[in-house]
Amino acid sequence: MKKIIFLSMLCLAFISSNAQQKKIWDETDQEKNERLAWWTNDRFGLFIHWGTYSLAGRGEWVKERERITDETYQKYFDNFNPDLYNPVKWAKLAKAAGMKYAVITAKHHEGFTLFDSKYTDYKVTNTPYGKDALKEWVDAFRAEGLKIGFYYSLVDWHHPEYTIDERHPQSAKFVSSRLATPISDEEYRELNKDRDMNIYREYLKNQLTELLTNYGKVDILFFDFSFPGEHGKGKEDWGSIELIKLIRKLQPEIIVNDRHDLIEYAGGWDYTTPEQFKVKQWPTYDGKRVPWETNQTFSGSWGYNRDELTWKDNKMLLVLLIESVSKGGNVLLNVGPTGRGTIDYRAENALLKIGDWMKYNERSIYGCTQAPDEFEAPDNTILTYNPTINRLYIHLLDYPMKNLTIKGMKGKVKYAQFLHDMSEIKITEPYGYIPLSDNKLAEQDINLLLPLNKPNVEIPVIEIILNTEKESSAKIQY
Ligand code: GLC
Repeated sequence: MKKIIFLSMLCLAFISSNAQQKKIWDETDQEKNERLAWWTNDRFGLFIHWGTYSLAGRGEWVKERERITDETYQKYFDNFNPDLYNPVKWAKLAKAAGMKYAVITAKHHEGFTLFDSKYTDYKVTNTPYGKDALKEWVDAFRAEGLKIGFYYSLVDWHHPEYTIDERHPQSAKFVSSRLATPISDEEYRELNKDRDMNIYREYLKNQLTELLTNYGKVDILFFDFSFPGEHGKGKEDWGSIELIKLIRKLQPEIIVNDRHDLIEYAGGWDYTTPEQFKVKQWPTYDGKRVPWETNQTFSGSWGYNRDELTWKDNKMLLVLLIESVSKGGNVLLNVGPTGRGTIDYRAENALLKIGDWMKYNERSIYGCTQAPDEFEAPDNTILTYNPTINRLYIHLLDYPMKNLTIKGMKGKVKYAQFLHDMSEIKITEPYGYIPLSDNKLAEQDINLLLPLNKPNVEIPVIEIILNTEKESSAKIQY
């Protein structure tokens, strides 16, 4: 018996010392909730992918996909001169769309920095453009009242000390115009013999220090990305623990994503980033709901891609936003400006259309989250809920014919109205023929009597003012 107690104590000691090791930052759940409060409230941001690849017009992975050498790729740097770059216009557009924050590629995988860095020549100030484009961007977005974030690529296809890995332009050779064969282990060794990741790790620290000291308060840092394994890269390669400590020291309020491979470390990351897909439910880690944001393109590319045609339509984008909020998440929607610094007309139109909807319906997005389990969404609707003002929002994806029955809501609704025009929606008894077997259920149900004609709104929203008393200080919690 004694032996068992001793062993289990040893075991517990091991677990707690392990947990100790895996803790990077001391912060309670409550403190984290508060630090992230603006972000969970705001829900909607603009992602911007802009760099030398924008000139190629074939997406930001063009250097890797087409196995382009540094020498050949140099033409995009030499011609980088966005004569129509006007970040004030971008910021106004983001704002018009109802976005509250924005994240821009300070450096993408090609290694080019949109900012003036002491640690590289491969930077915007050395192109014909000659100015710190990031500085101009930060000033413009801040002036419009938007929060600002930097995307920073851990991956670097230009830095001479960055070792060639499986996601590198030099990790495969073309054998014909279309087929690429991976290089052998021997070739990896040969290519990497003079490269030193220690030097690259210093470079990461130096550049992050620049980004987090020279541009004032930075609200978000979006790292990209890890792919651990043989010929891959992860936390050891980046020195992620040191990086995150540095970041927290320089900008204690900053919100950091999860792509630097520190998932199992408490305080190592703030939110998770499901990319280009819709989550089935609110993502969890260790059995707990976590903050999340889906990042998505309008078309199938992040960087400007002239010939990409798979553009999502307005309704699809609105559903994406509403559905994400209904599962407690955010949306970061991407534009890939052109080499001239303009936003493609299709993206601009899409943003303006989202703005048309947001202008009248934003109340069902900001400050909202997943509805409590007691509320069941009627068919073809999505629910969101604002815990602070205790209101429920019903988004009508497929406009019903006059009657919308909501189950189990008898006695719970004080008032119902459309959001877009604040017109009353009458509450009546469940309407129409009710099969005997459903009678019991129907007693608890109510009916919303809708106008026959669908209002002139892509997705009409009904606001339900609930009867139930709630503490007005309630906030979104994880
Ligand atoms: C992926 C891609 C990258 C893009 C990013 C956006 O990680 O590698 O090109 O920037 O997704 O989240």
